[in-house]
Amino acid sequence: MRRPFVAGNWKMNGSRERTRTLVADVCKAVRELPEVDVGLCPPFVYVTDAGETIGDAPVRLGGQTCAGVEDGAYTGEISATMLADAGCSFVLVGHSERRTLHGEKNADIAEKASLALAAGLSPVVCVGETLDEREAGRTETTVARQLEVVVERLEQDELARLVIAYEPVWAIGTGRTATPSQANQVHAFLRGCVAERAPNAAAGLRILYGGSVKPENAARMFAEPDVDGGLIGGASLDAKQFIDICRAAV
Ligand code: PGA
Repeated sequence: MRRPFVAGNWKMNGSRERTRTLVADVCKAVRELPEVDVGLCPPFVYVTDAGETIGDAPVRLGGQTCAGVEDGAYTGEISATMLADAGCSFVLVGHSERRTLHGEKNADIAEKASLALAAGLSPVVCVGETLDEREAGRTETTVARQLEVVVERLEQDELARLVIAYEPVWAIGTGRTATPSQANQVHAFLRGCVAERAPNAAAGLRILYGGSVKPENAARMFAEPDVDGGLIGGASLDAKQFIDICRAAV
């Protein structure tokens, strides 16, 4: 049985004050949700504040991305090792905003996933098709290609620590979600892709859905057999909404 995982991706939102309040509210509620892994990805500069507020509460801290190189003269970059050192246990890689706005390619994302694993972090590899790709019937080819490059780069034991987030680009921040059965179909397909290489890892692999998840649609989405939780953007900035979504994963 896969343990549900719900992670909040705050993107470039918040302040130090808001980080502390939001994290404290989430921590309070999460103590009553032992069945769910709950994670938060604040902006880098607030990771340490968030970690201090979390203390010993069962909330996992994550980065929103990491560098594709270990260290050196890379102004503005943050390495996976630094994130681990700051208390993170996971990191998002290949979010569609990173792919679109920062030109990240599948090979860069595979490198980031590999460095994250080497630093002891679980990479949450984000994949998803654009609306044009979906309408052209190219959803599966698109996500398969995005995932394949990462899977080929990793060893069998590393695949066991991988998490995937399926986030259709047309559903991110738009208020439009995939239907639960559309999401489940892609999740089952992605699990099948990993199974070809690592059957054991595939059975335990957590595949999160992301894209306009709200308290009103979360329970139906999480009820699907291959949907193991969610990656939550906008709704994770509101403690009540985020907690209600975490409750829907129980
Ligand atoms: P959203 O974002 O929930 O605001 O659609 C999801 C994401 O980008 O991870």
